[in-house]
Amino acid sequence: MNSSTYSSIKPDTRAKKGHSVHAQRRRQIMKMMGDNAIAILPAAPVLLRNRDVEHSFRQDSDFYYLSGFPEPEAVIVLIPGRPQGEYILFCRQRDKLKETWNGYRYGPEGAVAHFDADDAYPIDDLEDILPGLMEHSESVYYTIGLNPDFDKHVLNCVNSLRKASRGGVHVPYEFVSLEYLLHDMRLFKSREELRLMRKAAKISVQAHIKAMRACQPGVGEYQLEAEILYEFNRNGAGWAYPSIVGGGANSCILHYTENSRILKDGDVVLIDAGAEYDGYAADITRTFPVNGRYSPPQKEIYDLVLEAQEAAFKTLKPGNHWNDPHNAVVKTLTKGMVELGLLKGKPAQLIKDAAYTQYYMHRTGHWLGMDVHDVGDYKVDDEWRLLEKGMTLTVEPGLYIPAGSRGAKRWANIGVRIEDDIVITADGYELLTKGLPRTTAEVEAVMNA
Ligand code: GLY
Ligand code: MN
Ligand code: MN
Repeated sequence: MNSSTYSSIKPDTRAKKGHSVHAQRRRQIMKMMGDNAIAILPAAPVLLRNRDVEHSFRQDSDFYYLSGFPEPEAVIVLIPGRPQGEYILFCRQRDKLKETWNGYRYGPEGAVAHFDADDAYPIDDLEDILPGLMEHSESVYYTIGLNPDFDKHVLNCVNSLRKASRGGVHVPYEFVSLEYLLHDMRLFKSREELRLMRKAAKISVQAHIKAMRACQPGVGEYQLEAEILYEFNRNGAGWAYPSIVGGGANSCILHYTENSRILKDGDVVLIDAGAEYDGYAADITRTFPVNGRYSPPQKEIYDLVLEAQEAAFKTLKPGNHWNDPHNAVVKTLTKGMVELGLLKGKPAQLIKDAAYTQYYMHRTGHWLGMDVHDVGDYKVDDEWRLLEKGMTLTVEPGLYIPAGSRGAKRWANIGVRIEDDIVITADGYELLTKGLPRTTAEVEAVMNA
């Protein structure tokens, strides 16, 4: 949540205590943790941009998933089975002066009233109170190393228990990463999460259409970025990741984000941009001709990437494995590149030798959710994970042919990626990013309407 989506976060005041989606998730994770355990999750840190200016605050995804609490300087503590209360939230206290400068704070009272906490305490009291909460636990579910400043607080708490251990105080004896349990939960999207992802996708689709319509020779990459961001913000969303708007040679730079050049007649422009809506991301790429008509070489590359995406789509159903779409893409692209003359040799051998990586150097997708590259294991017991209902992912084949590639002059500076978002359903998949032109004819029709 950057500043614009931040304002869309509201506590779920309609839900009765214990009935919010967050309460259900906390119950589920606590059941997996079992008794004799404590989980500790800090909010995201505030990051400085320059001197007195901060980056807009974006809550940590795990923290938000379990609490819906939007503020920095907060800590979730979960203690399954604790009779006095299982869910404790530490947060900033109300402060009239600070709220005048920087905005509303819920304070511990608000954390109990609006966010279902059984108890809430000022964040400044963390090191006084947390050791007592840890004392009866054998396992501490805390992911060390992600937030070194906060690690120190947790270690101080453990050490203060150690000091008191001669007086009979119990010290937890193991640290366990919470991610293992939590990220598997986050991998499977609920109905409510899918609603938010459809919304993020819909806003992003509108933004890409707006950029297609605004595109013409002489327009700056930054101006198309502005069209995209306008559409995100206008709809109460923000960006899920910095937008990539690359024309010509820049279309071949995978993580190009300067977006500073003027678009030229005869070039393609690649836009990879997705909205974040109430914490959930979309991730879409389209590549279109700056002048509104694909040239024959541009169409050759585009149609091949599209064919590869179609081949990947065919593999999307429960029971197939994570790598099936990638294998389908590699097979289609390699065969097509041989037919075009971009690669020379037998497709099977070229795949074995990974020759395709000269022009297709990334994977075909990733999990998508609160994080654009979302959490969840891709392999289980060293085997590719099987696709299951409720998993959300991207399908994003591409080909990138920078000028100077040997024997590829015809396609110089054509970089094409087509990226869509899908959810696996009971018997196949649903395209979350529907409504956005994909074929060359559809893109040209929108650009020239
Ligand atoms: N936008 C980042 C990606 O496509 O993975
Ligand atoms: Mn992606
Ligand atoms: Mn992308």
